[in-house]
Amino acid sequence: MVQKEAIGSVFAQHLQGLADLGVEMPVLLAPMAGITDLPFRRVVAGFGAGLVVSEMVASQEMVQAKPSVRARSRAELGLGEARTAVQLAGRDPYWIAEAARMVADSGAEIIDINMGCPAKKVVGGMSGSALMREPDHALRLIEAVVGAVSIPVTLKTRLGWDDDMRNAAPLAQRAAAAGVRMITIHGRTRCQFYKGRADWAAIGAVVQACGVPVIANGDICSGADARRALALAGAAGVMVGRGAQGRPWLLAQIAAELAGKPIPEAPQGAALVDLVAGHYEAALAFYGCDLGMKTVRKHLGWYVEAAGGALALRQRLLTARTPAEVLTLLPDALAPAPDMEKAA
Ligand SMILES: Cc1cc2nc3c(=O)[nH]c(=O)nc-3n(C[C@H](O)[C@H](O)[C@H](O)COP(=O)(O)O)c2cc1C
Repeated sequence: MVQKEAIGSVFAQHLQGLADLGVEMPVLLAPMAGITDLPFRRVVAGFGAGLVVSEMVASQEMVQAKPSVRARSRAELGLGEARTAVQLAGRDPYWIAEAARMVADSGAEIIDINMGCPAKKVVGGMSGSALMREPDHALRLIEAVVGAVSIPVTLKTRLGWDDDMRNAAPLAQRAAAAGVRMITIHGRTRCQFYKGRADWAAIGAVVQACGVPVIANGDICSGADARRALALAGAAGVMVGRGAQGRPWLLAQIAAELAGKPIPEAPQGAALVDLVAGHYEAALAFYGCDLGMKTVRKHLGWYVEAAGGALALRQRLLTARTPAEVLTLLPDALAPAPDMEKAA
């Protein structure tokens, strides 16, 4: 009983830690490069999300970019948007601190440090999850960012590099001692990439090790998943990535389920068509027509799959040549098809 009360009070403290960051709802949108761009984050935030995180930005490249490129990348970061963290990646304490200063001066609310990306391009540059192999260096980066800004700094990482080096807990402990205010753990090692299942129970060791809120991430696609991940990890919240593809309302549904409130219905029919058309037009306005059509295409495919639309109509939608054609096809493409014809 005493132990249960102690656990309860630690959990309450962690929820307060989230609230201090402005995160009132313990369901966060994961950063996904090429997917969670500003137009998509706005759609998700419109339904409700505790926090959304920008796609990762390479620190040195951003600081050294030409002013026109920098303006573009700053627009993408959504500086000044409520409940948005800007995620920085980098290897050099000097450049990541400069980037942190730059985005903080431009209105970022929270800076998230990327130590989880497994991509060879990023790991080859010895940033992202490669930093898990060099905890002392990782700490220098964290200290540089925390020392450079007065806004909260958070960290996103994995369970470790591989099964022989599952060092998220000591890293998280040191990160928290250095001033990091929240830590998200994707329940896989770097060497697992996205294979197997995320190990939510293993995240519990990180929760035990550090006194700041820990967010469980990986394979959370429903309220039931979220409840199980929270129970196994003892985490303060969950972060949802791929599950929200084609279902930007999912975070709000999960949050309602966790809070024991009625679960909002997913939009259907005309409401779904309006939502997708709105996302589509926002992407075209943000990127310009040609780039916008290419960038938002994958989202259209996911919306049709989530709606159970017909495979043939999905194909027509994805190969349409003009925005007008796309908008005309949407109502039929988003209508549920008989099982045999479904896109997914
Ligand atoms: C296409 C793609 C891009 C990603 N980009 C990033 C990124 O920029 N920064 C980051 O920290 N994690 C990135 N991730 C990892 C996700 O944030 C998340 O940790 C991972 O997808 C597991 O969560 P999920 O199962 O809910 O998708 C990316 C994942 C995917 C699939």
